[in-house]
Amino acid sequence: MNKQAHESAAIVAKTRPAAYKVGIILGSGLGSLATEVEDCKRIAYSELSGFPVSSVTAHASELVLGRLEGVEVAILSGRAHYYESGNSSIMRTPLETLKALGCEIIIATNAAGSLREHIAPGSAMLITDHINWSGLNPLIGEMDESRFTDMSRAYDPELQEAMRKAAKTAGVELPEGVYMWFSGPSFETPAEIRMAQTLGADAVGMSTVPEVILARFLGLKVAAFSTITNMGAGLQTHDLSHDETKEIAPKGASKIKAVLKAFLKDLSV
Ligand code: HPA
Repeated sequence: MNKQAHESAAIVAKTRPAAYKVGIILGSGLGSLATEVEDCKRIAYSELSGFPVSSVTAHASELVLGRLEGVEVAILSGRAHYYESGNSSIMRTPLETLKALGCEIIIATNAAGSLREHIAPGSAMLITDHINWSGLNPLIGEMDESRFTDMSRAYDPELQEAMRKAAKTAGVELPEGVYMWFSGPSFETPAEIRMAQTLGADAVGMSTVPEVILARFLGLKVAAFSTITNMGAGLQTHDLSHDETKEIAPKGASKIKAVLKAFLKDLSV
């Protein structure tokens, strides 16, 4: 564990000691997921060591600690993206801290553009796999053999099954798909979107993939969701904007929240 993660875990242990089980990363427009946490303590990233404060509006940049449906959770409310700094391993210390706190499961969320008609804006999508289109990797420079991290089951099959069950329990329609990472911060071109469709992607976005690679490297199990905020460039008549992302994200987010709560409730018994 790196020194900063060690220091941050010590701050958490002092502020709210608990046997944390699930780490959750909240993406754009998903902050409301953190509002229902019970017995809650919040720590600003600026008070922790190695936690990057996000420059993106709609990202809170605080660690939210507490219980959700009886499960001890540590929520990264706000993430830093590769495009903010040019550093693809920017989320390494937060993830190492979650591991140090005892989390074995990481649930990542993001806002994404859809490439498929049946996954409309306002949907929640379960991510079943990803395509790393960025050419980047947060493990570049890692010196030992563990850098050759297996990604065959990056999105844990058992967790996927549990999420399908949770969606059924919650009465939420949960389409599934492959998420493709573009670095951003500009949106894709229509030609890039057509390419992504041809290559087998179902949604595109600017985050999550580096975190999933890091989480697998750290031996954490991963599940991930997108809140679909728009159709990809060229698939809708109006231009893309971050304002649209922020406006539409809460629709899918409330579905993700319902699925997550059903999942955690099941986990707690
Ligand atoms: N592309 C990339 N990232 C996104 C999009 C998109 O269309 N929508 C929300 N985040």
